[in-house]
Parts: sequence; C-alpha cells; structure tokens
Amino acid sequence: MGKVILLILACFFCGAMISGVQGEDPYLFFTWNVTFGFIAPLSGVPQQAILINGQFPGPNINATTNNNIVINVFNNLDEPFLLTWSGIQQRKNSWQDGMLGTNCPIQPGQNYTYHFQVKDQIGSYMYYPSTDMHRAAGGFGGLRVNSRLLIPVPYADPADDYTVLIGDWYIKSHLILREFLDSGRSLGRPDGILINGRQKSDEPMFTMEPGKTYKYRICNVGLKNSLNFRIQGHKLKLVEMEGSHTVQNVYESLDVHIGQCLAVLVTADQPPMEYFMVVSSRFTKEPLLSTAVISYTTGKGIKASPALPPAPTGWAWSLNQFRTFRWNLTASAARPNPQGSYHYGAINITRTIKLVNTVSRGSGYKNLRYGINGVSHVNPETPLKFAEYYNIADKVFKYDVIRDDPPPKITNLTNEPNVLNVTFRTFVEIIFENHEKSLQSYNLDGHSFFAVAMEAGRWTPEKRMNYNLLDAVSRHTIQVFPKSWVAILLTFDNAGMWNIRSEIWERTYLGQQLYASVLSPTRSLRDEYNIPDNAPMCGVVEGLAKPPPYTI
Ligand SMILES: *[C@@H]1O[C@H](CO)[C@@H](O)[C@H](O)[C@H]1NC(C)=O
Ligand SMILES: *[C@@H]1O[C@H](CO)[C@@H](O)[C@H](O)[C@H]1NC(C)=O
Ligand SMILES: *[C@@H]1O[C@H](CO)[C@@H](O)[C@H](O)[C@H]1NC(C)=O
Ligand SMILES: *[C@@H]1O[C@H](CO)[C@@H](O)[C@H](O)[C@H]1NC(C)=O
Ligand SMILES: *[C@@H]1O[C@H](CO)[C@@H](O)[C@H](O)[C@H]1NC(C)=O
Ligand SMILES: *[C@@H]1O[C@H](CO)[C@@H](O)[C@H](O)[C@H]1NC(C)=O
Ligand SMILES: *[C@@H]1O[C@H](CO)[C@@H](O)[C@H](O)[C@H]1NC(C)=O
Repeated sequence: MGKVILLILACFFCGAMISGVQGEDPYLFFTWNVTFGFIAPLSGVPQQAILINGQFPGPNINATTNNNIVINVFNNLDEPFLLTWSGIQQRKNSWQDGMLGTNCPIQPGQNYTYHFQVKDQIGSYMYYPSTDMHRAAGGFGGLRVNSRLLIPVPYADPADDYTVLIGDWYIKSHLILREFLDSGRSLGRPDGILINGRQKSDEPMFTMEPGKTYKYRICNVGLKNSLNFRIQGHKLKLVEMEGSHTVQNVYESLDVHIGQCLAVLVTADQPPMEYFMVVSSRFTKEPLLSTAVISYTTGKGIKASPALPPAPTGWAWSLNQFRTFRWNLTASAARPNPQGSYHYGAINITRTIKLVNTVSRGSGYKNLRYGINGVSHVNPETPLKFAEYYNIADKVFKYDVIRDDPPPKITNLTNEPNVLNVTFRTFVEIIFENHEKSLQSYNLDGHSFFAVAMEAGRWTPEKRMNYNLLDAVSRHTIQVFPKSWVAILLTFDNAGMWNIRSEIWERTYLGQQLYASVLSPTRSLRDEYNIPDNAPMCGVVEGLAKPPPYTI
C-alpha cells in the first residue's frame, strides 16, 4: 500500500494556505518512485512499463472526504512526466491538476510534491499519466474517497471494497505507439484487455464469503475501447458513479467507457465455488475478452464454469443503459451542492458552447491531427495557467480562437493552443457533437456536470425540451456515441485553468483537447490559491519574478 502516515495534528498546517492545502483535516503522505520496469501481462511477452514503487498498476490511494493528500513523485524515467487525478476537483487549485496547461512537467531525475485536498467529494476515481503516451505504459492506479463517518451512505457497509482497473492494452511500447501517431498512423487494435494488470489467471483475484455483499469499484483506464463488465451468475447493483450516489438499479452487465468509474455491490448469493469476472471490448469487430477469478471462501478450487455470460451487442443497448442512470436525490453526500438540494434545472443558461470533434489527415501523410471546432490543441512550453498568473498570457496564447457555434462543416484544422475564456460562476451548456463513426469520451477537469441528454443526430435548441432537468448524475466524464450528441450543464464555479479532453488517448495526444480559463475578477485567495512555491518552472516564466500573490 505504499508508505502512508496519517496525521491528525491540527497544528501541522502552518503555511498551508500558501501551498493551497486546507488545515485541520487529516493528511495522507506518499512517496512515489516512478520508474521503467519490465512486465509481461499479455501472453508472457515482456515489455517496458511505468511502475510506481515497483507496482503495476500503481498503488491505490484510500482517502476520506476532505483529506489532504501529499504525494512526493520522483520521476526516475528518462522523459518528463506528470500525473493527473481524474475527477478530483482541485477546488481553487488547478495548480495540482497535473496537465501540461497547469504544470511544468517533472524532469527526469527531479521530484515534485503534489498537495491537494479531496474537498467535499466521495467516490471512485483514478489517476494516470497525462504526459505524452505514458498512459499506454501504465503509471495509473485507483483513488477512492470514502464518506466521513458522520455522513450516512445509502447502503450497508460492504464486507470488503475492491478496486478493479480495466483497460485495453498494447504489447508495443509507448515509444513505438507514439512514433505511430507522430508519423500519421493510428494506434490500431489493442492486443488485449487487462484487469488489475493481468489478462487471465487461474489464481483468484477476489474472494467473497457466502452471504456477504462486496463493493467493486470499476474504472476504465484504457486508451481506446469501451468495455463491458459482468460477473458470471451475479447481479450488479449500481451504487455510485464518478462521485455521486446513484439510484440503485440492478444490472446483468455495465458498459464502462474510457475514463469512467462506477461502483457496484455484489452479493455472494450463489453456490460457493469460483466465478469469472468478464471484461470484453464493445463496438469492435472481433471483441477482446479477459477474465479474472472470484472465489467464494468456502468453494476454493471448485472451478468456474467455462460458459461465460454473453456480452450485449450494439450501440442502442448502451445508450438505453445510460438513460437508466439517475442521481439518488435523497442520499446525502459530501459535495459543494448536496444531492437533491441543487436544482440545476431551474438555473438559466448564460452561454451555450458547441464542441465538435474532427479529424484531419492534412495535406501530407504525417499530418494526422484531431481537433475541436477546427483547432487542434498544442501545449505551449509555458503552461497556460502560468502565463495567466504572470500576466503575460498574450505572449503565450490567444483566448477564444474557436467559435461557440462552429460552422456545420469544419474542413481543416489549425494547430494552436485552444483556450476558452469562461466567466466565473456562470451556468453554461456544453453540447458535444460527434459527427464521426467512432465513439468519443470527454472528461472535464475541476468540475462535475449534469449530462442531461444524449441522442443520435445533431443537436438543435428544441432538444432542450427533452433534457433531464431533475436527476441526471453529477459526473465528470461522458461518452458520445457515433453520429450523436450529448448536452451537459454546469456552473463554472472553480477558478482555474481546466482541461477538457477526449479520453481516447490517441486523440488527446494529437490535439483533441482544450482548456477553459475561469478567472476570478479579483485576485483573491477566497477564489484561487497562489502558485505553489515548489512548482517547477519552464518556458518564458522561468527566471521571472513572481507577481504579487493573491491575498485575502
Ligand atoms: C527508485 O527506484 C530506482 C530503481 O529501482 C532506484 O534506483 C532509486 O534509488 C529509487 N529512488 C528512490 C527515491 O527510492
Ligand atoms: C481505507 O480507509 C478506510 C477509512 O479510513 C478504512 O476503514 C479502510 O480499512 C481502508 N482500507 C484499506 C484497504 O486500507
Ligand atoms: C523533493 O523531495 C524532497 C525530499 O526528498 C523534498 O524536500 C522536496 O520538497 C521535493 N521537491 C519538490 C519540488 O516537491
Ligand atoms: C437513495 O438514498 C436513500 C437515503 O440514503 C436510500 O434510503 C434509498 O434507498 C436510495 N434510493 C434508491 C432508489 O437507491
Ligand atoms: C430566467 O430567465 C427567465 C426569462 O428570461 C426569467 O423570467 C427568470 O427570472 C430567470 N430566472 C432566474 C433564476 O434568473
Ligand atoms: C484552412 O487552411 C487554410 C490554408 O492553410 C487557411 O488559410 C484557413 O484559414 C483554414 N481555415 C480554417 C477555418 O481554419
Ligand atoms: C474574458 O471574459 C470576461 C467577461 O466576459 C472579460 O471581462 C475579459 O476581458 C475576457 N478576458 C479575455 C482575456 O479575453
């Protein structure tokens, strides 16, 4: 589990305001050594992977609401590196988001200590490398935020709580995959699927005592494929999705798209023996499939039946499943706006931004780029947030290079930083329109949003009549089916620089991402923390004197 020291010392936080970490709440400390190592998860073929403290996947972070998390990350790779904490909102603190728009990468041989608080959050999350194609090599892990004891959880304490990281996997190294993308090729088909770093193993990965109920937190850490998750002979009761307690519907299987996490309860109510957990790829010509073994404590060695539960087929099944996901409005949970008390449907929309993903093969073979509204994002050497903080944004990037309402046909892409100027605390509608033939999955940092509608075709303002304005799940990642659209609503109430990206990693790597700059009109610590003292510097701000800090 790594080295965790839990301190409940109220006096520890002297100077905490400067680093952006709030006092009083307990601290979790970690030291992580990031290295290359060799693993052989697929057919015994050895390959280079990114290990954290020698582990693949990386260590699980087990936190509780409002804990302060301090992780000293030593980059012992030979390439610059950053981790991002997917779904962790980093209130007032985009400095810790670990994207190239908010942080200089940790150089080889250097270390950086992330400090952040899991403020007002509960739920199942993950972290992964945001730099380069590193995610294809590992470096990811689970991050859970437990409810504080005082806050009721809408189900009995499970007998145990398991993290299940599922994802497609390539045998080729991230360097070769990167070379493919840099030379205009696509990644092609993954070689397999891993469940907690393994493809198939006869050894039980999970154990259940007969009659007891267990929580499984499932995250899709892969690069490309939507996955279907199921357990032979057992029902899945959905209880949480990306930080929200859901209405507890029961499913035979669940689709988990790239970047998404959900939690289910599974009761060991079947004859005691072994059962297969099955994960298979969706919407692919020849589905990939992987299994792990769950054993009952009293039925060890009684092998699971080879008859695996079938996968669902088609897009419609998945779309219909999405429509069954609802927020449990009566459940209490730590969040800035308690479930049920936040009537998002009653707030007037102040801005509608339509984001259309496009691909461009350009004029030459090597010009494969992915974009949004005609712009393929390029990270300047100076992080966007740093440029803003030092008041030299105009030297580094332009705001609003895309239109909120793009032309119906986008013919070419320009390569430049893509930054939206979003007014602090406004209630915004974002339409993700996917005109392509493949599935898209979008993640928004710093905020959660309500995905109020998902339909085939093109969005029109009349579609607003059919929005779910009552109980859409508050979340941070949403899939967009081929030739379909999704509408999300949110208040941009977290000052900072926030990445909006395709979670399909070849797309992100080749520019299908942008940033929302949310600036508080006053440089006030009430709204945003100062740049951390230990932040590595790079680009044009290197060597510049720091501007006057934000004050109370
Ligand atoms: C990190 O791991 C590498 C390789 O195992 C080792 O050489 C190095 O000393 C470790 N660094 C720390 C800070 O533990
Ligand atoms: C995680 O933290 C909770 C709350 O502190 C604790 O009850 C639980 O035992 C921990 N689980 C693991 C696997 O460390
Ligand atoms: C690097 O690690 C050392 C402890 O080994 C720590 O004192 C220092 O603050 C860390 N550097 C950064 C930039 O976080
Ligand atoms: C919602 O949460 C409440 C309060 O914890 C719980 O009693 C109820 O069973 C949950 N409802 C559903 C439909 O899951
Ligand atoms: C929303 O807009 C409508 C019509 O423009 C207006 O009547 C109403 O007062 C507004 N509601 C809020 C909460 O601002
Ligand atoms: C398309 O590319 C041409 C030539 O590179 C350029 O002049 C034009 O501005 C681009 N159009 C758009 C909409 O970006
Ligand atoms: C961003 O928008 C706000 C309000 O709409 C405006 O006051 C500000 O000047 C804009 N900033 C930039 C850099 O365009």
